[in-house]
Formats: sequence, structure tokens, C-alpha cells
Amino acid sequence: MLELNKIYLESCLDGLKKIDDDSVDLVFTDPPYYQFRAKNVKALKNHKDVVTEFEFDGYRSEEEYLQFLEEVMMECYRVTKPGGAGYLFCGDDFVSYINRIVEKVGYNFRKVIHWHKTNPFPAIYTRKMYANSMEMMVHFSKGTPKTWNHKHVNEMHNFIQTPICMGKERTKHKTQKPLKVCVPYLEISSNEGDLVLDPFMGSGTTAVAAKKLKRNFIGFEMNPTYLEFAEGRLAEV
Ligand SMILES: C[S@@+](CC[C@H](N)C(=O)[O-])C[C@H]1O[C@@H](n2cnc3c(N)ncnc32)[C@H](O)[C@@H]1O
Repeated sequence: MLELNKIYLESCLDGLKKIDDDSVDLVFTDPPYYQFRAKNVKALKNHKDVVTEFEFDGYRSEEEYLQFLEEVMMECYRVTKPGGAGYLFCGDDFVSYINRIVEKVGYNFRKVIHWHKTNPFPAIYTRKMYANSMEMMVHFSKGTPKTWNHKHVNEMHNFIQTPICMGKERTKHKTQKPLKVCVPYLEISSNEGDLVLDPFMGSGTTAVAAKKLKRNFIGFEMNPTYLEFAEGRLAEV
């Protein structure tokens, strides 16, 4: 078993294999998005703020990307304790694929949570499309969730509204998630001392949330610059 409370600089496909079966209480993750269909990428890729993460991740096709996610989720299922749960961020164009993947690997799909970004990247007017102001989080569990730190019924909607990550919290990671969309779900689905896994740590938001909430964490990130951002943020908690 790997040492806890560390982010490892390696592909999660290799790293996850070093985690014991049934040892993780909560998977909380935000994989690289395969956000744009090929024809859109051509139109958008010269725009400096458009993230085409799959390009630097080397995915050649949508099928290859989905196969990769399925392999990661199979490992996540193996390491999740019975009664453990998970949340996975995705774009609205992929949510139905993700639902199928989580069920295929053995999890129970529970709900899609909708995050409304109050300050999304503006629509690209020349393409006459709406702003991408929604992201989804697929909630799943291995059997019936053993932890459910119920809040007031009005706080338990499958909808959350916050701005994208800004201000002091923001690093130079292009798709950093705000703590505000992570902390509530870690609070509900894990307890102090539990182990939270994020195979795609990026700038370390899951680890920072876990540390603030006195959970243990473990995770992977392939980009050394992002790992540095994460370690810097963790040092400040
Ligand atoms: C959407 S970002 C995660 C952002 C993170 N939630 C945050 O708030 O900073 C996905 C991350 O996965 C990393 N990544 C891509 N492929 C990976 C792999 N095979 N193993 C580990 N990390 C990977 C990318 O470098 C990127 O930082």
C-alpha cells in the first residue's frame, strides 16, 4: 500500500495498481475532459483560453478516451471499500457515457449533480452557441453508501452554484475546481480519518479539501508543474 497524504507523480493507471483492494472510502475526481469534438477543436484551438486537454494527454479518439476512463474506473472500483462512494466531474456532453462506465465497472449510479458556473468562459459568438456554464458530477457508490452526513433537506439538492476558481485560491492550472464545489460532497460522503482518492489531482483541490476536513488522501498527477502547485497549496493548509 502506498503512503497516505501524498500525491504521486505518475500516471494513475500505474499508481492505482499499488493501492490495496477495498481500502478507499471516497473517490473524488476530475479527469481530463474530452471536451470538444474534433471539428470544434479546429475552430477553437487558436483561442488562448480554450482548454483542449485531451491533446496534451495524447488521446487520439473519443473511443480511446472512454477506454482510458473505464480502465481507471475499474481500478477505482477495486480499491473502493464496500459502502464507499465516489464523485466524478464531467461535461454535459459526456455524462451519459460516464453513467454507463460507472455501472459497467460495478458501482451503483446514484445521481448527477449540476454545477452552475456563474462566471463561465463567454460563448464564442462566431459559432453561435451558448456559454458552457454547467458542469456535472456523477455520484456513485459501491453498494449502499455507508456514510451519508445528511444536511438540511434544502442543502441536499443535486445543484450547486458558484463562480469558477478565482482570486487567491487560483493557481495557473487551467481547470482548477473551486473548493466550494468539492468540500460539501466530501463532508457528506466521508468522515474524519477516512481515505479519499483522486487519480487526477491537478492542482490538488481534492487533497486540500481532504486535509482541511481532516480526511486522509492519496492521488496521482502526471504533470510536475501541477504537482508543485498542489504541494504549495497543501503546505498552506
Ligand atoms: C481536470 S484536471 C484536474 C483538476 C483538479 N481537479 C484541480 O482542481 O486542479 C485533470 C488532471 O489530470 C492530469 N492527468 C491526465 N492524465 C493523467 C493520468 N493518466 N494520471 C494522472 N493524472 C493525469 C492532468 O495533468 C490534469 O492536471
